[in-house]
Amino acid sequence: MRVIVVGASGTIGKSLADHLAKKHEVVRASSRKSDVLVDITDAGSIRAMFETIGPFDALISAAGSGEFARVSEITEAQFYTGIKSKMMGQINLALIGQHYINDKGSFTLTSGILAEDPVAGGVSLSVVNSAINAFTMAAALELERGLRINAVSPGIVADSVASIGEFFPGHYPVPMDRVISGYVKSAEGILTGQVIKVYS
Ligand SMILES: NC(=O)c1ccc[n+]([C@@H]2O[C@H](COP(=O)([O-])OP(=O)(O)OC[C@H]3O[C@@H](n4cnc5c(N)ncnc54)[C@H](OP(=O)(O)O)[C@@H]3O)[C@@H](O)[C@H]2O)c1
Repeated sequence: MRVIVVGASGTIGKSLADHLAKKHEVVRASSRKSDVLVDITDAGSIRAMFETIGPFDALISAAGSGEFARVSEITEAQFYTGIKSKMMGQINLALIGQHYINDKGSFTLTSGILAEDPVAGGVSLSVVNSAINAFTMAAALELERGLRINAVSPGIVADSVASIGEFFPGHYPVPMDRVISGYVKSAEGILTGQVIKVYS
């Protein structure tokens, strides 16, 4: 398959792209440090990415960000960071990408455990992750040409404990190879409309 990995320079995306490259043609995309540059907060940039890359069979997004802030302090602007980037950015990858992807292709987005297992300061990401899961379930019912879409929802990845582990007290870190399996199940398997939870 020809697979686009968006967020290919990130903690999850780099490991994922390296794994997929053993078996597939992988096109690596991200905002600053990849072969193909794309800003997922900008629909025009997403369109330009698809025009540049040409036909493909699967798109996996492990991209986007949101802000950590406590409920007592979070601002509307901080909420919009995650909405514009992780939420709408990934949704736009599928909405725009559906017009470029090959028949029976698949989209895999990334949500996360905070959709159902909140932590202090994670409220905006709980909202964004839930939105991605809801979009996945609903959009799968309407996609045409045999297209599929799933979301992978990882727990905190072992490789990220040093950087963000303090925000996840009591969460058991998930080995990277298990997280990668979730993406492989989505892209190489037959599931659609599913939230593939990788919490352990
Ligand atoms: N790591 C975890 O434990 C964990 C757990 C659950 C869910 N998640 C979710 O999984 C996703 C990836 O996590 P990660 O830890 O791998 O993050 P990361 O290391 O911060 O990597 C983020 C990736 O997204 C790219 N990116 C950021 N903003 C972008 C934009 N506007 N347009 C295009 N690319 C953009 C970055 O590219 P550049 O560096 O080139 O800018 C980078 O490749 C995130 O959505 C995160 O919320 C992560």
